[in-house]
Amino acid sequence: MRSRFVFIVIMGALALGSAAWAHDYLGPQSCQGCHPDAFAAWKASPHARARESLSAVQQRDARCLACHSPNEAESKVAHVTCETCHGGGQYYSPRFVMKDAELARLLGLVDPSEKGCRTCHDASSPSLKPFDFVSKLKAIDHWTAERARRAGETKAP
Ligand code: HEC
Ligand code: HEC
Ligand code: HEC
Ligand code: HEC
Repeated sequence: MRSRFVFIVIMGALALGSAAWAHDYLGPQSCQGCHPDAFAAWKASPHARARESLSAVQQRDARCLACHSPNEAESKVAHVTCETCHGGGQYYSPRFVMKDAELARLLGLVDPSEKGCRTCHDASSPSLKPFDFVSKLKAIDHWTAERARRAGETKAP
């Protein structure tokens, strides 16, 4: 079952090319069950409401959506979500894939980088101060609780 799944997915990816399958987004609820702490922290962050900062007219303006809801047009997932930063989750979401760090990356999991933040937090965003990666990263922390929970689970009898 497992190897067959991996085989089919990898052959599919090769056949389609990476651009085509980069858009298999499942939405943030799909991550919630397995990553409840990350979800709760994200949900409380401005990224989870980014589309709502736009007026009704602006919500139809592709120029604004490019940063405030970039996966909406193609993947029907609104706001700046898990998959905007971590990559579309269709193929890496199954538990056995997620548990294998290398396989998960092969199947689309992206390591978010400072460069990724700067595709949106750039000179054209309205902030008066330049983007300070270290402090802004702290402001979206949703991994400390995740890692604590995971450490607790491994220690549990
Ligand atoms: C079926 C459960 C499940 C689902 C659904 C799931 N994950 Fe995971 N994820 C895991 C497990 C298990 C790990 C391994 C680490 C751990 O135990 O927390 C993991 C690890 C990760 C990691 C760390 C990977 C690494 O190697 O550094 C990230 C990032 C991640 N998941 C993001 C997501 C995102 C984004 C989604 C939704 C698109 C998602 N996950 C959906 C179970 C899941
Ligand atoms: C797809 C575009 C996009 C990416 C990528 C992105 N952001 Fe954002 N971010 C936004 C938007 C849009 C807002 C404003 C949300 C709103 O409407 O209030 C925002 C707001 C924030 C805020 C709150 C406002 C502020 O400036 O203090 C922080 C913190 C933040 N982002 C950190 C990050 C970090 C760190 C990264 C990279 C790991 C990142 N963002 C990646 C679009 C993005
Ligand atoms: C704005 C970009 C951004 C968004 C949105 C985002 N993440 Fe992350 N995520 C990151 C970054 C950056 C890190 C790594 C931080 C570090 O290691 O310093 C991370 C780390 C994680 C980790 C921990 C990985 C590990 O090594 O333990 C998990 C799990 C995770 N994210 C899941 C999610 C889920 C689920 C969502 C949505 C509910 C989400 N993320 C939304 C950027 C993002
Ligand atoms: C290049 C990416 C980018 C584009 C394009 C963009 N924004 Fe933003 N926007 C951001 C970021 C990042 C933030 C939050 C951080 C900051 O203040 O710089 C933000 C913040 C905002 C806020 C303030 C939200 C708050 O609660 O403080 C509003 C309003 C806003 N944008 C409206 C728009 C409108 C309207 C458009 C289209 C004309 C647009 N943005 C286009 C990146 C972008």
